[in-house]
Amino acid sequence: MNDQVRKPLPHDAAPLHVTGEARYVDDIPMPANCLHLAFGTSPVARGVLKSIDLAPVRAAPGVVRVMLAEDLPFANDTASAPVHDEPLLSTGSLNFVGQPVFVVAATSHHAARFAARQAVMEIEEETPILTVDAALAAESYIEHPPLTWTKGDASAAIAAAPLRLEGRCEMGGQEHFYLEGQAALALPQEGGDMIVNSSTQHPTEIQHKVAEALGLPMNAVRVESRRMGGGFGGKESQGNGLAVACAVMARATGRPCKMRYDRDDDMQITGKRHDFRIDYEVGYDETGRILGVDFRQYTRCGWSQDLSLAVADRAMLHADNAYLLENVRIESHRLRTNMCSATAYRGFGGPQGVVGIERVLDHLAHALGMDPVAVRQVNYYADYTPESAIGGAAPAPAAPPRDIVDRETDLTSRGAVGALSEGAAVAPPPGAQTTPYGMPIEDFCLGRLTEALLESSEYAARKRAIAEWNEANPVLKRGLGFSPVKFGISFTLSHLNQAGALVHVYQDGSVHLNHGGTEMGQGLFQKVAQVAASRFGISMEMVKITATDTAKVPNTSATAASSGSDLNGMAVKAACDTLRDRIAGVVAELHQVRVEEVVFQGGEVLAGGNALSFAEAAQLTYQAQVSLSATGHYRTPDLSWDRMKGAGKPFFYFAHGAALTEVVVDRLTGEYRILRADMLHEAGESLNPALDLGQVEGAYVQGAGWLTTEELVWDGKGRLRTHAPSTYKIPAVSDRPKIFNVALWDEPNPAATIYRSKAVGEPPFMLGISAWLALSDAVAAFGTAYPVLDAPATPERVLAAINRVRGV
Ligand code: MTE
Ligand code: MOS
Repeated sequence: MNDQVRKPLPHDAAPLHVTGEARYVDDIPMPANCLHLAFGTSPVARGVLKSIDLAPVRAAPGVVRVMLAEDLPFANDTASAPVHDEPLLSTGSLNFVGQPVFVVAATSHHAARFAARQAVMEIEEETPILTVDAALAAESYIEHPPLTWTKGDASAAIAAAPLRLEGRCEMGGQEHFYLEGQAALALPQEGGDMIVNSSTQHPTEIQHKVAEALGLPMNAVRVESRRMGGGFGGKESQGNGLAVACAVMARATGRPCKMRYDRDDDMQITGKRHDFRIDYEVGYDETGRILGVDFRQYTRCGWSQDLSLAVADRAMLHADNAYLLENVRIESHRLRTNMCSATAYRGFGGPQGVVGIERVLDHLAHALGMDPVAVRQVNYYADYTPESAIGGAAPAPAAPPRDIVDRETDLTSRGAVGALSEGAAVAPPPGAQTTPYGMPIEDFCLGRLTEALLESSEYAARKRAIAEWNEANPVLKRGLGFSPVKFGISFTLSHLNQAGALVHVYQDGSVHLNHGGTEMGQGLFQKVAQVAASRFGISMEMVKITATDTAKVPNTSATAASSGSDLNGMAVKAACDTLRDRIAGVVAELHQVRVEEVVFQGGEVLAGGNALSFAEAAQLTYQAQVSLSATGHYRTPDLSWDRMKGAGKPFFYFAHGAALTEVVVDRLTGEYRILRADMLHEAGESLNPALDLGQVEGAYVQGAGWLTTEELVWDGKGRLRTHAPSTYKIPAVSDRPKIFNVALWDEPNPAATIYRSKAVGEPPFMLGISAWLALSDAVAAFGTAYPVLDAPATPERVLAAINRVRGV
């Protein structure tokens, strides 16, 4: 029955990706008469637009129409947040360099871009709020007062602790650098309806925003998204402006309208990862155990709210990472600054929270002269699974709750018994270990996973060898960095944890598959198609993957929070099982067997010794006048979360992993290389180990890029100076570790997910933190002081840190 899941199949569109045949929005054959759009944008970070002369814009070659805020027929709103604080076009106040002020429609992309630069704006400039300190001084907040969560009594515990440390850690933001930039195409239909093609992770939000901008109900707008050339969170909300502009202009002109940002515009206009400053104070003992810790997190949210509250919440939710903290206080400042509005980016604040505690542990290990891995092991949550709690010394695999998971999704397979009986002999009593927000940790494998990684990566021997090598090398030093991750899976806005699917079986047995998830390269469509094929017992060739379409599945959530396969996999399973039951009913009647005796397997439908091909069974079902089309829906069970109190169960489960990175650093230039990375990462019973390994590798490299070479530089006037690949350095193929040992940690998900898999999109991003820690370790080898290496640890920062620890 599970023929197709767990197979390491390639990405369904891989041949199209590599031949250039894969169609992105900009590749859709252009309708006749199509107009191209560009925004005229604010040249200042803060000010008031006193007047604007658009005559030169209108006079520019090819210009067909120009619109200001006052020309918009209905809502002037692209905000993802419920506060409606993000107009499509400025209504007079200018809030960041790059803010759209007007939109030009012209006969070519270049004509539109040229014309957009011809406006003459009279602006009363104001002093922009750019830095954390300036925002704090001005009390410029997105949310106030700062959110604070506590567990135990952090200040008392720190005061009473035998040892104490405090420090500050700063980490930069990150440009998504999706290879395909933001793009949208709007096609006006009869009766005022609109079809929009958008490179978006969130077709329903595009539909919603376009409908409001056109003064139409949602049923008059259809949004289609076949694929993105990367999203990484940058297309959760940032595509709204382009789609709305295209739709409004298409309505006004009656012509199709297309907009795609040039790379420099894309980098200046759209939001990025939130940068963070984290101040910490920690009390600990001689064994390295944290007794109390206080975090103050400060993040620059940019000019509007967007997804910042949820991102900053997730940073707080990951301030513990993998460690049991009994006394902890987390305070979070969400600052409004005159920059592009920071947005979702793989990990969604989680990585920033994790960097905070990893820095604390790095600092503390250095202060104690203790092995950094050992310090982490001292502080880990205890290994735990539901089975080890119930079964005691000789645990058996748990039976899944029957109402959620049926026999094919059963937990009977490889790995479970062996892994549990070795590592989890002693389990804490239920409720014994909770997160800072009071959620019990009842699924934790990092103890045994870490042991396995230390062994497979030969940690002890390499650590000794590196110490010797460093002794002998005054100019180059090597360093090792270890970091684990425990990442919470679910949207923290609980109602978003739902998905829908639409599945048709045609008379010839071919299957048309649709669900609310979007494809951004992560392989979601293939994984979900594997689920569909498995439910029907048919081959992959019989399942047609189709574009995401709001007319097929309504009211979808963004494909985000790593939950795409969890949610859509379950919804598709539900739809397929409805159809399977209908087909089984027809076949059972034909062969006079009970419905439960009908088996779907190997492309056949078997009943009482008779075999029909799946196509024959579909044909029979059709002839029996039974519907071969079904919807499916899924909602994640048992979530409850109060963000103001910081209490409840925001996550269905956690995904874990750990990485060890080795680097070499040059004292003379601060340049470095990642020499080797070893990692073990959990994907539960992987739906597709090939795609999941790809996610782990890509996420690691992207995470390492964030903390090493990717640097966003805004000047004193709020202008982003690094808005192209010439100045913003993402990792290249050549930057990937020469030795790259990546493996999946193979234990079924104790939570009842689709085929017991675990979400894998974001969690391994945090494995890249080990590269930053490795740099810190290598820098430390040049002297005795703690390096205090902020991120991104560019060669300049590494060089400065080396000079500090050397005292020169
Ligand atoms: N992988 C690729 N190749 N491209 C992407 O844009 N986005 C990441 C991750 N992996 C992304 C990716 C992000 S931010 C998320 S939330 C998940 O994929 C979303 O997809 P999933 O829920 O299906 O894992
Ligand atoms: Mo991912 S940041 O949740 O799109």
